[in-house]
Amino acid sequence: MSPIIKVENITKVYSRKGEQIYALKDVNFEVAKGEFVSIVGHSGSGKSTLLDILSCIIKPTSGKVWINGDEVAHASERLRTKIRREVISTIYQEHNLIPVLNAFQNVELPLRLKKIDPIERREIVNKYLKLVGLEERSGHKPDELSGGEKQRVAIARSLAISPKIIFADEPTGSLDQETGKQIIDLILETRKQIGTTIVLVTHDLNLADMADKIIEIKKGMVINIKNGK
Ligand SMILES: Nc1ncnc2c1ncn2[C@@H]1O[C@H](COP(=O)(O)OP(=O)(O)O)[C@@H](O)[C@H]1O
Ligand SMILES: [Mg+2]
Repeated sequence: MSPIIKVENITKVYSRKGEQIYALKDVNFEVAKGEFVSIVGHSGSGKSTLLDILSCIIKPTSGKVWINGDEVAHASERLRTKIRREVISTIYQEHNLIPVLNAFQNVELPLRLKKIDPIERREIVNKYLKLVGLEERSGHKPDELSGGEKQRVAIARSLAISPKIIFADEPTGSLDQETGKQIIDLILETRKQIGTTIVLVTHDLNLADMADKIIEIKKGMVINIKNGK
């Protein structure tokens, strides 16, 4: 079976004040459909840059990236936007919820962008708010929710479009250990239920070890790929 993600000779160079920063150097790997992969490395090793390239937010300086069969590094903004809206979802360290919208409306937003009709939208939003255990909080705005609850809403929002791939960049980084574990359990439970492919960036080796495959990066280079526990 062909991989759902394929990265070929990716390099990313940032130019800043005449200085060239090699954030990624000749990175190669594949992720199979339904696989749970973690990417580990110290701060500054290039993890977020890699995830931003995979999630079609930035383009690499050179190399190719296939997401769900489409080469995206050289694709039009139109195709990249479509993939961002319909194929993938991203969960960040900070939840990125919209402050003026309540939990329901935050989860609903990507469904609006996908032009799902209002009745179906309501059903989907309620289903995922329930899945993350927040059906009773649907009218709460982000500042009326705890840190863990906000991250749960962000997860519900990312699941609502039934993404083929979830990218998570240090999703538990701003939570205490116990809440962080609950969030990871929730992501794993979802994977069991809907078979989503998951790429998790973390510097927490205990979390990383829960994955099927662990990709270790150092100074922008893949230095090891191993199987999890
Ligand atoms: N927009 C940018 N402009 C210049 N340098 C950047 C930019 N983004 C990241 N970098 C640099 O690229 C390297 C990798 O950063 P990043 O991908 O954020 O690492 P990580 O997520 O592993 O902490 C770091 O040295 C960082 O300072
Ligand atoms: Mg980062």
